[in-house]
Amino acid sequence: MPRDVPLVSEQREYLVLTVQQARQIVQEWLAEIQLSNVTKLGLPEIDDRYHYWRVPLCANSGAKVGEVVIDAYTTEIMAAKTTRPELLTARLLKQDEAKAAAPVQSKREYILSSLRNSVGLGDSLHLLDDMPAESVDLIFTSPPYFNARPEYSEYEEYDEYLFKMRQIIRRCHRVLGDGRFFVINISPVLLRRSSRNQSSRRIAVPFDFHRIFIEEGYDFIDDIIWLKPEGAGWATGRGRRFAADRNPLQYKAVPVTEYVLVYRKHTDLLIDWFIRNYPDKKVIEESKVLDGYERTNVWKINPSTNSKHPAAFPQELAEKVVRYYSFKGDVVMDPFAGSGTVGAAASALGRRFILFDINPEYIDIIRAEISSWKDVNLNNVMWINCEPAETEKRQKQCSSSSYPP
Ligand SMILES: C[S@@+](CC[C@H](N)C(=O)[O-])C[C@H]1O[C@@H](n2cnc3c(N)ncnc32)[C@H](O)[C@@H]1O
Repeated sequence: MPRDVPLVSEQREYLVLTVQQARQIVQEWLAEIQLSNVTKLGLPEIDDRYHYWRVPLCANSGAKVGEVVIDAYTTEIMAAKTTRPELLTARLLKQDEAKAAAPVQSKREYILSSLRNSVGLGDSLHLLDDMPAESVDLIFTSPPYFNARPEYSEYEEYDEYLFKMRQIIRRCHRVLGDGRFFVINISPVLLRRSSRNQSSRRIAVPFDFHRIFIEEGYDFIDDIIWLKPEGAGWATGRGRRFAADRNPLQYKAVPVTEYVLVYRKHTDLLIDWFIRNYPDKKVIEESKVLDGYERTNVWKINPSTNSKHPAAFPQELAEKVVRYYSFKGDVVMDPFAGSGTVGAAASALGRRFILFDINPEYIDIIRAEISSWKDVNLNNVMWINCEPAETEKRQKQCSSSSYPP
């Protein structure tokens, strides 16, 4: 029967479209490593989140002995994700598997970032390109709102906005350490109606971001709900008409929540690896989260009273995220830093910070407040494309914009 709906693999224009093609690639690989006669193929499956084909490998007895992973876009066999030929041979010959399975995880070295506290003025898209790969341990941010308030939105089309956010999320992936977390505070936006004959439109921004994160190589970990007091929602104007008229169908829920979505850069490393391999056991001990932590995914926090930035999130929220998803001394980055709440939270908890914002007014706020943040050594802050804070200015000229190696 003819299909009218194209397969996902066809829509994405993969080079490997069918089960037969995936099998053929694996047969050729097995012939090359001279294991064709002793290996049977299981059913190939497409993993369209990561654009891979996974082909199970079985012994003639039917027992699974490994897997081949193929890049669906290029037909390439992904060596790092495919069972190594020598391990395969060992399993097939019932050799000592443990010996053959080189402990890849424990062989990896834990590299501590050398970045120091930094504040950068400019478009994160470009600032991120100047940063060393895998030099950040945690990202926490809230992105600019799409057209919510014209004073800090430059995008006319939603797709254009999403495209820009995708580019920044992609660059964040490069600078974020393997297996470390990207936490984003985000909520749907309301596009107000332009006339009485039109309806207002609510855009489910978090769900579009979710897709971007998955496609850009992050794994979804948690959806935390930031719950505000009821009064906070009425300011949006939503639900007022219904409250007055009470007509069915007019009902609109007053929004009193925002999402705090938690992603992790895709990795084969278990969380446990980070705890076991961290070079300084004292830091692990000191980073332990004490009693009174949030046990559920609903966090009740009052909104920020920061009048200097229209969309600042509360420091309490930033502190929880920093405490739960980083160790002391780690580097925490906010590529949309606004008034620098993430920087204040990071220093309050003994972490380093990297803050970028495109708006010089917000960099001015950070500059004015940074000396009040806990334990910030002003002489050790790197200012990129901007003047240092007053006290530092007296002591040195604005530093260069290159990162230490
Ligand atoms: C929602 S606000 C962040 C507020 C911040 N969490 C705080 O507590 O103050 C988003 C920020 O992103 C900044 N921004 C927008 N586009 C940017 C870009 N391409 N690069 C860097 N910053 C950007 C805006 O100037 C704005 O301050």
